Amino acid sequence: MKIVSVVGARPQFIKAATVSRVIRANPSVNEILLHTGQHYDENMSDVFFRELNIPEPDYNLEAGSGSHAEQTGMMLKGIEDVLLKEKPDCTLVYGDTNSTLAGALAAAKLHIPVAHVEAGLRSFNRFMPEEINRIVTDRISDLLFAPTKTAIDNLTREGLADITCFTGDVMYDSVLYYREWILQDPGKYKIPGIPANYLLATIHRAENTDNPENLKNIFRAFSRLDQVIVLPIHPRLRKILQSSVALPENVFIIEPVGYLRMLKLTMDAAKVLTDSGGLQKEAYFLQKQCITLRTETEWIETLHDQWNIVAGSDPEIIEKAVQCAPPAAPLLPGFGNGKSAEIILEKLLSF
Ligand code: UD1
Ligand code: UDP
Repeated sequence: MKIVSVVGARPQFIKAATVSRVIRANPSVNEILLHTGQHYDENMSDVFFRELNIPEPDYNLEAGSGSHAEQTGMMLKGIEDVLLKEKPDCTLVYGDTNSTLAGALAAAKLHIPVAHVEAGLRSFNRFMPEEINRIVTDRISDLLFAPTKTAIDNLTREGLADITCFTGDVMYDSVLYYREWILQDPGKYKIPGIPANYLLATIHRAENTDNPENLKNIFRAFSRLDQVIVLPIHPRLRKILQSSVALPENVFIIEPVGYLRMLKLTMDAAKVLTDSGGLQKEAYFLQKQCITLRTETEWIETLHDQWNIVAGSDPEIIEKAVQCAPPAAPLLPGFGNGKSAEIILEKLLSF
């Protein structure tokens, strides 16, 4: 079986690391890895391939940055060329980025079956570019790999139950697998100079970086907190900071880090504040309370017992959430058994 896997942005490298490792262990599968080039900085792309032993991409389209149409259009053309040349049995796409949409659309138009990992997530907020990408990708896919029960329910409501299967979350597999690497040599992944009892934050969503009012409110909340906030800075946020919004003094900026250092940062943090989808879940898997800097979350399963508090950009809510006692309640199952990649392989082979 020949599969073309399409990746392009940071969270997709992490998901593909886990799925590729499993599918490449099966000699009957030939995986061709296509990197769209959506993320291209060393610390947004290469570091993941190097540290997580992801095979060198067979193709890199170097699509780079641009408006949604420019970026997606560049990718569409490049992906189509690769698919015409490789003639795979299936195209595998991940998540909800422009790379996901381009991969699914190019393949569907060539009548190549599309399988979507992390299908069925919905924020019900069409102002998010990711929501459009998810809806379209799920609609034109042939096989939907749902990470949670909520995702299954969403797809069922949209009439897609017959092509949906529950796999669990490949990011849960990733945390379980790579946490072991860190526990074997924790010192190797510790970032020097970071004070104890810090809060870990990331901000990159358009609703925060493209809206100075939201960003100012988030920073207002940060400035009122007693702790240091460690912030690995996404390039999208860096651009805004250069131009308009000032950073509070207790924010400790670092460059984006590789996945292993990021997991270690999360394991050692007091709490997590983020608008990232992936980091909300990692905080949950690593039993850190998360304060979500958005007005909704797709990861409903993380909300029980206030493991995840949806605070938006409201300074009062953020401050109160940081000050509340962390939950003692146990985590609930809901993201699978850490073998999502194996289930995905099995479903691909029997498709
Ligand atoms: C993209 C995804 C988002 C995902 C995020 C993961 C879309 C629409 N958005 O958002 O769903 O959560 O990736 O991080 O696909 N830039 C660099 N270097 C890079 C990459 C980007 O400097 O290596 C800068 C560029 O100025 C670019 C901006 O960051 O314009 C945004 O990059 P882009 O890939 O368009 O969107 P993200 O915000 O990263
Ligand atoms: N991440 C990382 N280094 C960083 C920031 C985040 O490795 O400096 C990881 C994070 O642990 C998670 C993934 O990137 O696994 C999430 O990606 P991002 O927040 O960019 O996108 P989203 O998940 O919101 O789509």
